[in-house]
Amino acid sequence: MRQMIIAGNWKMNKTITEAKVLVSELKEELNGAEAEVVFCPSTLVVSSVKEELKGTDIKIGAQNMYFEESGAFTGETSPLMLKDLGVNYVILGHSERRNIFGESNELINKKVVKAFETEITPILCVGESLEVRKSGKEVSFVSEQIEKCLVEVKDEQVKNMVIAYEPIWAIGTGETATSEQAEDMCKEIRNLIEKLYNTDTASTVRIQYGGSVKPANAKEILSMPNIDGALVGGAALKKDFIDIVKAI
Ligand code: 13P
Repeated sequence: MRQMIIAGNWKMNKTITEAKVLVSELKEELNGAEAEVVFCPSTLVVSSVKEELKGTDIKIGAQNMYFEESGAFTGETSPLMLKDLGVNYVILGHSERRNIFGESNELINKKVVKAFETEITPILCVGESLEVRKSGKEVSFVSEQIEKCLVEVKDEQVKNMVIAYEPIWAIGTGETATSEQAEDMCKEIRNLIEKLYNTDTASTVRIQYGGSVKPANAKEILSMPNIDGALVGGAALKKDFIDIVKAI
């Protein structure tokens, strides 16, 4: 039985002061939730958020990291630094990293491999643009992203990771994929994992949907058999996040 996982990707929002306010508004209601709950603030805010979350079972994720441990990589964050901060998860390959910062599947693959080596669980994001969806090639596009990002990743590792299907056309647009569209792709992803690995791995890996998830659509999306949670952007920055977690 896969435990649901609801992660809030705060993106580049919330100063330390603002983050403390948000955590104090959310933590009591979310502590002990049926789903695993993860807050993913800016790396600069992680230690303050972690401090605020003491005594709760809410986990912490980072939004990115580099694949080297140390050295002349100006502006980058080392996996060891994240580990030292007590981070449990790291979002890798978010479409904003891919599109704004030019991250390739090959680079993301190196980060995924390094995350496992550092014992930080990756939340690997994949998803197609509107153009790709209109061309009808979304399944092969997402499959290629997954295959390339999972090179050298072993079945025992895949079992523990999280894959987030986030169609780019549904991110921050208010336009959600229908629950059928989301389920269809998450099912395709699970079938692909079965093909690349085995049935056990495919039935264990958790697959989230992300893209304009809000209280009004959470219940329907989260009730789909192949959707094991959500990666939430805008709605994770307010009390709506509580309703999303409780929609399960
Ligand atoms: P929104 O929920 O704001 O559409 O963002 C989704 C997302 O990108 C989460 O990683």
